[in-house]
Amino acid sequence: MKRVLSGIQPTGAIHIGNYLGAIKQWVEIGEQLGKDALFCIVDYHALTNPDAYDPKRLPQRTFEAALANIAAGLDPEKITLFVQSHVPEHTELSWIFTTQTPVGDLTRMTQYKDKSAKLKSVPAGLLMYPVLQAADILIYKADTVPVGEDQLQHLELTREIARRFNHTFGDTFPEPKALLNPKAPRVPGIDGAAKMSKSVGNTIELLEEPASIWEKLRTAPTDPARVRRNDPGDPDRCLIFKYHTYFSPPEVQEAVAGGCRTAGIGCVDCKKMLFDRMMEVLGPIQERAAELRRHPEAVEAALEDGAGRARALAQETMHEVRVKIGLYKPY
Ligand code: TYM
Repeated sequence: MKRVLSGIQPTGAIHIGNYLGAIKQWVEIGEQLGKDALFCIVDYHALTNPDAYDPKRLPQRTFEAALANIAAGLDPEKITLFVQSHVPEHTELSWIFTTQTPVGDLTRMTQYKDKSAKLKSVPAGLLMYPVLQAADILIYKADTVPVGEDQLQHLELTREIARRFNHTFGDTFPEPKALLNPKAPRVPGIDGAAKMSKSVGNTIELLEEPASIWEKLRTAPTDPARVRRNDPGDPDRCLIFKYHTYFSPPEVQEAVAGGCRTAGIGCVDCKKMLFDRMMEVLGPIQERAAELRRHPEAVEAALEDGAGRARALAQETMHEVRVKIGLYKPY
């Protein structure tokens, strides 16, 4: 692992699925790699989401996404944290990639199929979404991309785009690999039905009020076969136990799993134990976020600094690309 890039959309509050599936890994990687760990708030991607995009709210949401990431442990002094639109070379490279990418490769993307099926009029940007994602990654020649499982198909396409470009114009880009958090590749939502996702509205937000988090846990589904307090349950069929595997140490996991199987522990107590462990993780993040909110200029300065660093790298790659694709007097 030499250089890493990952991104997050500023389409709404960051949730524990983002945190466990992606941000937690970013923090660890940042410790190892320093400035070669690049993390990007992808505001141009957010424009493709007609439900969530609002030009009046985008600046605040972008700021909030940066703040939540820093509060979650990303240290902008060590790593490179920036906003996608501050490095316009991403969209330039993206255009070049679109000219080399068959439309059929894009229409078969499952995220495109799912999202476009819900829309009356499908913006072309939604189809091009993964091409811009490929540009985000390849412009830094990143070799590793820490993401949740839902991004694997986009990463496969990124590799194909790199391969095709290298074949046509000469060796330029590495074929980057996805890196999953093996413990939380796909965090289920609090409804117990679907993947935790901003668009489904089944999230626990990273910066959510503790009382609101407890209310969501209190009313969350458990093993459906466990109807009464005295019924034994199956932890492997219980959403709350799944969450324990993310937040509780092994001895607590064993105790609640054993208690569930023998009906020795009730669901409400199990949920209270989870809530306590969850707040041990989220509490300090929320405190840091409150502190950062008092110093918005520090977040702004960090993003400006990150954009400067990212842009220098992006411009180097773009020059190489402009030369290779045969532009007149490439700058
Ligand atoms: P986004 O904003 O939807 O999500 C950010 C990251 O969080 C992960 N994630 C999850 N992981 C586990 N369980 C979940 N329930 C869950 N929900 C979200 C996502 O997999 C992602 O890693 N297309 C990307 C943004 C992007 C990007 C990039 C990522 C744009 N350019 C370049 C990597 C590299 C997206 O929509 O992420």
